[in-house]
Amino acid sequence: MTTKLKVVVIGGGSSYTPELIEGFIKRYEEFPIEELYLVDIEPGHEKLETVGALAKRMIEKANLPIDVHLTLDRREAIKNAAFVTTQIRVGMLDARSRDEKIPLKYGLLGQETTGAGGFAKALRTIPVILDICHDIEELSPHAFLLNFTNPAGIVTEAVTKYTKVKTIGLCNLPIGTKMSIAKMMDVDVSKVDIEMVGINHLNWTTKVWIEGKEITSEVLDIMSGAKGVTVKNIPDIEWDPEFIQSVGMIPCSYLRYYYMKDKMIEKQLQDFETKGTRADEVRKVEEELFKLYKNPNLNSKPIQLEKRGGAYYSEAAVQLMTSIYNNKKDIQIVNVKNNGLISCLPDDVSVEVNCVIDSEGPTPLQLKTTLPPHIRGLLQIVKAYEELTVEAAVHGDIQAGLQALTIHPLVGSAELAKKIFKDILDKNKEYLPQFNKSNDNNGGIK
Ligand code: G6P
Repeated sequence: MTTKLKVVVIGGGSSYTPELIEGFIKRYEEFPIEELYLVDIEPGHEKLETVGALAKRMIEKANLPIDVHLTLDRREAIKNAAFVTTQIRVGMLDARSRDEKIPLKYGLLGQETTGAGGFAKALRTIPVILDICHDIEELSPHAFLLNFTNPAGIVTEAVTKYTKVKTIGLCNLPIGTKMSIAKMMDVDVSKVDIEMVGINHLNWTTKVWIEGKEITSEVLDIMSGAKGVTVKNIPDIEWDPEFIQSVGMIPCSYLRYYYMKDKMIEKQLQDFETKGTRADEVRKVEEELFKLYKNPNLNSKPIQLEKRGGAYYSEAAVQLMTSIYNNKKDIQIVNVKNNGLISCLPDDVSVEVNCVIDSEGPTPLQLKTTLPPHIRGLLQIVKAYEELTVEAAVHGDIQAGLQALTIHPLVGSAELAKKIFKDILDKNKEYLPQFNKSNDNNGGIK
């Protein structure tokens, strides 16, 4: 095991990193990190230097003895780490922008993690994450991998199926949901408990308690016809009151894409005309952020970072590391192997559920809710899409990819699936070597 408490952040040059640093500073007493390695690749070198310098200033201001190392040498960084986090974007924002535009061209949702956009991102990302995992297996087999890289649920599933790494998939939505409910009910977030069931970006808050008293139906009543529980990257279109009551639980913000498909696509097409895709918007926010980060007098996380959908993700990350480190046995909502918990899904898939966190990692809690058919049906079909996507990404399996896209409720057509898949392969050649087996330059799609 490690001698010093070492944490590695792969994708350390991300504009989100100051948020993570703020989390480490806040929880230093409980989680006295000694070595922090921020790792990036050559194209991200400049960003790494800028973000790394800000991280050092933040830590200096807090007067904490954390050694910050900036490096392009991933293997050196991983050696003897206790925790490795990944927050990478293969192909960077340009690739995200293409992922969002391809489905839109066919009148379908163009989104970073959901639908065909998420499929493309998974194909590019999974091979790189598996490579990182092979380094972890060799150089730091006891390390926990906390994966934030999107699509987080699918990536986590690929890691649990194809490596021995102890991995936990993380998202900011569970914490964000608790925060929104706390705001709605006008109580401190520490008083709110929720049960969340589902898979990443497709889950339902099945129960809500405030100081132990169940208030699920009150929250549903407030949400009926209302706006409010969403993240910065998803339009806040209000829920239909009768519909939300019929769901009987609180859908996560991404479920708007399924339950209000037409309205959401219409909104996306309108936004596209005026401001481009979300990636184009994010590019502007990033430019603004990096300008601020370069200021040698800045030594705290700028408020502008809250314009990003992933705001507060460090809460999830640092809370999780702290609980593992201190064997806390508290409850957190993370992505883990199903192992029979959600009985309508296979054992070896990833699910996002309440877990008890101790020094061994997460152990899922038995569900307090039986899933009704409308939840079960959607969950099963999107999970089947995810399983097929993992196979396509790992093996360069065209047939699995075509089936994945075809059955996805936001594609739902073999003809469109084929066109979209062909476009994805065309536009991502340098990032999808697993499909280069065939002499045909589209990996076998005509
Ligand atoms: C949400 C999701 C994250 C995602 C983020 C995108 O919060 O939970 O998984 O990364 O939004 O935000 P962005 O600002 O990049 O559009």
